[in-house]
Amino acid sequence: MLEENSLPRWHIYPDQEQISTHLAAAITRMAAEAIALRGAFHLVVAGGNTPRATYARLPSMGRDWQRWHIYHGDERCLPPEDPERNSLMLAQTWLSQVPIPGAQIHIIPAEAGASEAARRYAAILPAQRFDLVLLGLGEDGHTASLFPGHDWGQEKGSSPTLSILDAAKAPPQRVSLSAWRLRHTHALFFLACGSGKQDAIASWLRGENIPAAVVGRGADVWLDMAAWPESLPR
Ligand code: 6PG
Repeated sequence: MLEENSLPRWHIYPDQEQISTHLAAAITRMAAEAIALRGAFHLVVAGGNTPRATYARLPSMGRDWQRWHIYHGDERCLPPEDPERNSLMLAQTWLSQVPIPGAQIHIIPAEAGASEAARRYAAILPAQRFDLVLLGLGEDGHTASLFPGHDWGQEKGSSPTLSILDAAKAPPQRVSLSAWRLRHTHALFFLACGSGKQDAIASWLRGENIPAAVVGRGADVWLDMAAWPESLPR
């Protein structure tokens, strides 16, 4: 269970290659455990570029695909065939290669516009905890599509989804799971690679009020050496 007020656990690897190998192994291990314990594996996937290498390893490593249920942590309000859609990235790198039933792959209908898509997605989310939530980290400390200066939906029971109209990262219109809904999970993994993430990690370590730190209490953070702030001891 995700602890409420504990610090994140930092897992530093030499490079992205090593992270994607170990992270893919951890995801498939957790899937097997959840399926053995609860009969199914409910996974929230991250968007962006960093998780691609991990997703690309899963077709050869995963099992019991009939028991997997996939949700998106956020999506960009673009047409479904747009190469910048997270759903297209997931399909191309992983989901089109494995027999997860179509009804268990829950895509955010972001082409419908931010508020309509947020309303529809809220209606399909399960009441129970996710088994695992995967999240990326933005240079400014954003995660999913929860950006500094915005409402992140931390109040338990508030809407599980948020519509964003002016995101700091293109495209401006997005849909995101809220902070409390992302934390309603058994486990939470962050993934951060590259020197571009050093400032965000440093802010997190300083305890600053950034979205990733607020969502990431008690999380496991997988990062490469390049993302760890040079000024800090490893
Ligand atoms: C998105 C993401 C976003 C992403 C970070 C990191 O749709 O843009 O969900 O939160 O995870 O911006 O992106 P990179 O992995 O590409 O650096």
